Amino acid sequence: MSSHGEPIPMQSSKAGPLRGEANVPGDKSISHRALIFGAMAVGETTITGLLEGEDVLDTAKAMQAFGATVTNHGGGKWSVRGVGVGGFSEPENVIDCGNSGTGVRLIMGCMATSDMSVTFTGDASLRSRPMARVTDPIALFGAQSHGRSGGRLPMTIVGAADPVPVEYVTPVPSAQVKSAVLLAGLNAPGQTVVIEKEATRDHTERMLNGFGASVITEEVPEGRKITLTGQPELKPQEIVVPRDPSSAAFPVCAALIVEGSDVLVPNIGLNPTRAGLFETLRDMGADLTYENLRTEGGEPVADLRAKYSPNMKGIEVPAERAASMIDEYPVLSVVASFASGKTFMPGVKELRVKESDRIDAMAQGLRACGVQVDEGDDWWAVHGGGAGGSAKGGATVESRLDHRIAMSFMVLGMGTPEPVRVDDGGPIATSFPIFEALMNGLGAKVARA
Ligand code: S3P
Repeated sequence: MSSHGEPIPMQSSKAGPLRGEANVPGDKSISHRALIFGAMAVGETTITGLLEGEDVLDTAKAMQAFGATVTNHGGGKWSVRGVGVGGFSEPENVIDCGNSGTGVRLIMGCMATSDMSVTFTGDASLRSRPMARVTDPIALFGAQSHGRSGGRLPMTIVGAADPVPVEYVTPVPSAQVKSAVLLAGLNAPGQTVVIEKEATRDHTERMLNGFGASVITEEVPEGRKITLTGQPELKPQEIVVPRDPSSAAFPVCAALIVEGSDVLVPNIGLNPTRAGLFETLRDMGADLTYENLRTEGGEPVADLRAKYSPNMKGIEVPAERAASMIDEYPVLSVVASFASGKTFMPGVKELRVKESDRIDAMAQGLRACGVQVDEGDDWWAVHGGGAGGSAKGGATVESRLDHRIAMSFMVLGMGTPEPVRVDDGGPIATSFPIFEALMNGLGAKVARA
């Protein structure tokens, strides 16, 4: 069941060739940040192409609760009248971030250095996810947290009335943690420093610079050092949200496994901190090309063309690439079942603490569909069958309140002899509300079962 409704069982049956253009929605990471940074700017930020998925809508509601004015003008155009850094007012009620780890962790960061007490909650998935990774660093600024055992939501954060800046080495490769610390640093005096050993998505750094903050990134022997100067006045922006490479992954991967397919996915950002899946697919021998490669807003952008690829080979995915494709492993594992040989995916412990334990969710579902999957604590391997795949389908799989698990199994069903069902496709609405219509428009057979 999605955080907002009853379970929606869905089924995907073998598709004819997928053909046409897939115009996927706006980037989820950038959409959250556009609303949050807009709320912390002085004046009106306009946003075009906002992802109107449940996760982002929950963040929009939260920003209103903190005192910003968020307006939906229709057609993907939104505006946020911000209250300035340090200008948040204490919400009158609990902040419910639904299914969104990004929403709750970034918002915890940006209230952690204000004199207020805020209680956060979310759906069953979010209430099971670890929050100590954020509450540990915000404690260094002077914030206190009181949650359920194991650092779970619901949780109350008491922000620091007199915050001090911090220097923090992130213990896990996480853009959410990095961003929470930088956002807390916005309302602390002096310089806040985050050091990350592995590069994670850098939208916070890029966008905060765009809003007029000073965020300097340097390569140092320990990794990446990011220095933010506190208490800036953020200036409102006109943001055009690019399309989401993590959503593009679904039509791209579907095209690779369905015979006769040729799908164009226009205007996809290829920021190196996000594009790991596409590199991996090309390493596997996928017929995936970047057309019309250009630079937009300082970032590489291309139209992706994916064609049926019967000759893909299993590979070892470099562990150092994990952060740049962390949300794409579920759908990669589906493609891997259509490659010849084994695809080995090491260094992916973080997959165990996403919206679900994604290694377990995919391994169990793939096995139920006839695929051999091996797994360890921080690695997994999928044994492929070459063209036609190693999966037979014919199973109903649990989506576990995880949009990417649900969509990955819908993609699997497009290529298997028997249909694949998920017990609940409702979570798809958190990030890709038009998934069913878009995929069926290309020739898929996804239906409510
Ligand atoms: C995100 C960071 C990633 C990713 C999530 C979005 C972000 O999470 O999985 O979907 O927008 O910062 P982690 O930071 O926990 O790796």
